[in-house]
Amino acid sequence: MRISTIAAVATNGVIGKDNDLVWSLPTDMRFFMETTAGHVVITGRKNYESIPEKYRPLKGRTNIVITRNRDYRAEGAIVVHDLRDALDKAHAMGETECFIIGGGQIYRHALVGNMVDTQYITHVDASPEGDAFYPDDAWAGWSEEELRAHEADEKHNHGYVIKRYERPTT
Ligand SMILES: NC(=O)c1ccc[n+]([C@@H]2O[C@H](COP(=O)([O-])OP(=O)(O)OC[C@H]3O[C@@H](n4cnc5c(N)ncnc54)[C@H](OP(=O)(O)O)[C@@H]3O)[C@@H](O)[C@H]2O)c1
Repeated sequence: MRISTIAAVATNGVIGKDNDLVWSLPTDMRFFMETTAGHVVITGRKNYESIPEKYRPLKGRTNIVITRNRDYRAEGAIVVHDLRDALDKAHAMGETECFIIGGGQIYRHALVGNMVDTQYITHVDASPEGDAFYPDDAWAGWSEEELRAHEADEKHNHGYVIKRYERPTT
């Protein structure tokens, strides 16, 4: 099973502030929804709760929420207490590619733990203030392919480039 992260990251590494996103990029959101459709998505409890209630669990995908809280319940989602357990559950379901969808703590855990094969990164041309970050240079030394690019316009407050990074095979 391929283990992928998918994230939109500012040039200063910021991914969010006050448990919310710091930009509005509708076509990038569409890329996220298309890419993860039909797959298992794994999320930290804070990121899960940042999704507007009417959109969670994210439709058309199996949502797995990670929390240390043994009493936590999320209707329509699977709750686990460990990232490894989330990955094992995805594997047991026959998943071929699962997506770690954030936030900062869960991305870090997965990348520092060398669990990730592929990173889908939307590089956002902005340096906003924030309090949640993607790990620095997490793609250094990985092979990269540009997938899409988008200029800032009336619906997108920043331009961006989406790249897919693959872990070196050696
Ligand atoms: N730009 C993007 O692509 C993107 C994507 C996703 C999220 N975000 C942003 O990221 C921010 C949220 O990220 P965050 O780092 O604050 O939180 P997070 O990673 O979403 O969730 C953190 C929570 O996960 C649980 N957790 C973390 N490590 C754990 C472990 N080892 N074992 C068990 N549970 C564990 C804990 O839940 P409990 O406290 O319940 O125990 C912890 O409080 C928001 O601003 C969001 O908008 C941005």
